[in-house]
Amino acid sequence: MQRKDVIIIGAGAAGMMCALTAGRRGRSVLLLDHAQRLGEKIRISGGGRCNFTNLYARPENFISRNTDFCRSALARFTPRNFIAMLENHGINYHEKKLGQLFCDDSSEQIVALLKDECDASQVKWCMPCQVNTIEHALGFTVVTNHGQFYADSLVIATGGLSLPKIGASGFGYAVARQFNIPVTSVYPALVPLTFPAASFSAFSDLSGIALTVAVACGGTEFHENLLFTHRGLSGPAILQISSYWRHGMPIIIDLFPKIDIAYLLKAQRHSRALLTTVLCGYLPQRFVEAWCRVYSAPKPMNQYSDKELQALAAQLHQWQMTPSGTVGYKKAEVTLGGVDTDALSSKTMGVLALPSLYFIGEVVDVTGQLGGFNFQWAWASGHAAGQYV
Ligand code: FDA
Repeated sequence: MQRKDVIIIGAGAAGMMCALTAGRRGRSVLLLDHAQRLGEKIRISGGGRCNFTNLYARPENFISRNTDFCRSALARFTPRNFIAMLENHGINYHEKKLGQLFCDDSSEQIVALLKDECDASQVKWCMPCQVNTIEHALGFTVVTNHGQFYADSLVIATGGLSLPKIGASGFGYAVARQFNIPVTSVYPALVPLTFPAASFSAFSDLSGIALTVAVACGGTEFHENLLFTHRGLSGPAILQISSYWRHGMPIIIDLFPKIDIAYLLKAQRHSRALLTTVLCGYLPQRFVEAWCRVYSAPKPMNQYSDKELQALAAQLHQWQMTPSGTVGYKKAEVTLGGVDTDALSSKTMGVLALPSLYFIGEVVDVTGQLGGFNFQWAWASGHAAGQYV
């Protein structure tokens, strides 16, 4: 049986960060992963350029039953700390928008950086490796298809359920249950929304059309792009709001964010132009035609009463749609929910009742908004655990 100080299951973003941090402290570390290729999620992220952090990452950008849990780890490993690692490795990057940092060249560079840092810290690897069972007595015995490994500390960094085709599994939740650690309800998040055929059929031909909107749900609002797809709605605004949406809730779309459309419509009160012509000055024609077919058969502007224009403006600012669901984990960027933070130390990421067992990254009930926040949580939580394992 091979003995190490630390075994980390899951060689993704959080697992590699934890490994290199612990390795730098002189701890002997073994990383196990069942995937064929290292860091596949990092590789495909950000359209192949990896949105590796967000300059403005704050605890407010994360969803969790305990919104304070992420504070400590985020404060001890900031976006600047990760940027410094990139700069040490000569990796060029740029801000795309809203503090979102991407590699200039390729996300492969981030995988290579983490692998190099792990190698420099003498981290050992075993992958692809199937973990069969975990036993705990004084330390942890991990039984795999490559034999048994023993360590004093065990870190679970196996991520969430999103993208099963590249190796996502519910393994981390099963380990939590094995050790009687509560797991919150989990949902696909940062995911396109689907709509009942009856209410969406008028819009199903609009695939590829994008609008700049504000989308709100349950008191949270995002001002971003919305994209029509064959099955429903996607784009950054929808992906963001999907993390706050629950079954049965409507989403409210403001088609004229920051514009007083009532004022603009009333300014056309004496025009003979059709409503569609006026709206096409602001929105794509095919969308306007579809929307008017459902909500308001267009008349010349001079035939609308003030009351009708007021009602129309309200509907354009508050277009209410109730999704039937999401496209699920096969397309979701992340899993919302996970290992209950009440059971974990926010300082070490260790289990309060069993401090030598750690959970880091997406498997924990801390989920970032879109824009580099999920990787920042993976780096920060991996670093936090790496200091204590
Ligand atoms: P991660 O999923 O990265 O790693 C888990 C590892 O555990 C994997 O290597 C997996 O093979 C392994 N594993 C799972 N089950 C196992 C088992 N039973 N046995 C052994 N190993 C097992 N975020 C962001 O901030 N910016 C971005 O640009 C993007 N882009 C993006 C695109 C797409 C398509 C997706 C799906 C996701 C993103 N994300 C993102 C989210 C981000 O990728 C995600 O939050 C982090 O990778 C989570 O890091 P973890 O290390 O926790 O899990």
